[in-house]
Amino acid sequence: MTYHHAPSPNDTRDAASSMTMEVQTKTGTAQSPKTTASTHDQTLLQVRNLKKYFPITQGILFQRQVADVKAVDGISFIVKQGETLGLVGESGCGKSTTGRTILQLYRPTEGQVVFRGKDLAMLKGEDLRKMRSDMQMIFQDPYASLNPRMTVGDIIAEPLEVHNIAKGKEKKERVQELLQIVGLNPYFVNRYPHEFSGGQRQRIGVARALAVNPDFIVCDEPISALDVSIQAQVINLLEELQDRFDLTYLFIAHDLSVVRHISDRVAVMYLGKIVELTDSRTLYANPLHPYTRALLSAVPIPDPIIEEKRERIILVGDVPSPVNPPKGCRFHTRCPLAIPICKEVAPEWRDVGNEHFVECHVV
Ligand SMILES: Nc1ncnc2c1ncn2[C@@H]1O[C@H](COP(=O)(O)OP(=O)(O)O)[C@@H](O)[C@H]1O
Ligand code: SF4
Ligand SMILES: [Mg+2]
Repeated sequence: MTYHHAPSPNDTRDAASSMTMEVQTKTGTAQSPKTTASTHDQTLLQVRNLKKYFPITQGILFQRQVADVKAVDGISFIVKQGETLGLVGESGCGKSTTGRTILQLYRPTEGQVVFRGKDLAMLKGEDLRKMRSDMQMIFQDPYASLNPRMTVGDIIAEPLEVHNIAKGKEKKERVQELLQIVGLNPYFVNRYPHEFSGGQRQRIGVARALAVNPDFIVCDEPISALDVSIQAQVINLLEELQDRFDLTYLFIAHDLSVVRHISDRVAVMYLGKIVELTDSRTLYANPLHPYTRALLSAVPIPDPIIEEKRERIILVGDVPSPVNPPKGCRFHTRCPLAIPICKEVAPEWRDVGNEHFVECHVV
């Protein structure tokens, strides 16, 4: 197989990481950190009562709608300019659907996504296309998200063509520049995705997202499919790029240990709803919602003495179906603190102080 005989881009892993180091040095010295208090105070994106339902239809000749998958069911939050907002929850709770609906890859069933003061759900045609180039996505699976029949150069150039940004020589130079920015050798433009390692493919995915100079990127579990040894490199790259290009991230993950270091604030999602949202430090030091506490208790602590003594909450059962979510508080079927009212009345979303939001009757 050519994979074994041809000089593989995998062979250049060291070269790639030394280039990354170069990027690190550049951003570390020449660039001042952009995440100042003032930039963080500005709202870039506002999500208001966002819902995304997928219809379930039945019938052979005439399809009729029999139910809905309530993947996202009324969520509200803001994302501040220059910050990383983590979005965490078990698989199937609606994280990817949230990201895709914000980017208008799915049109919302209800609610608003206001980006720089414009409601994206109301935009159509050219206006929507223009706004979309400011918002990009990095996908979970770097194996499935890159077209195996396209060269790396064509993959990265595609958004430049779609958005009419560069042609000919300029396009070629931009692609090479992007490869360099993400720590890959610019000579690899003519190679195919299968010739790269998982971490390198994710770098290609990052280069494709960066091609159109976006302001906002949804990173949908960008390291979940990667070897643990590579995960930190990709996180470091994303952080460097954020500083260098003034990026704002919605960073999706299924466990809290991953988002801890990269997020300024964290939103915890359960069955289509956000149940808690606060700054990272507070969330880890003082988690309020029983679901957040359960997720946190699954994160190992490096100190063996604390690790042995700490409270462990084991969540029983799976996430219930989003077709028929439980009445009252959606978490009551699995909650160790549930009281009778939890089965009947949905708790309200409230601020317990200092923008620490939680949705629970007992905390
Ligand atoms: N295109 C779709 N059509 C129907 N149901 C979907 C679709 N995408 C996601 N879902 C369902 O919506 C729920 C939330 O999915 P998803 O947003 O992918 O969750 P997560 O990213 O948190 O794992 C799941 O029950 C999933 O099966
Ligand atoms: S409202 Fe009740 S069931 Fe829901 S998280 Fe709080 S205590 Fe648990
Ligand atoms: Mg997902």
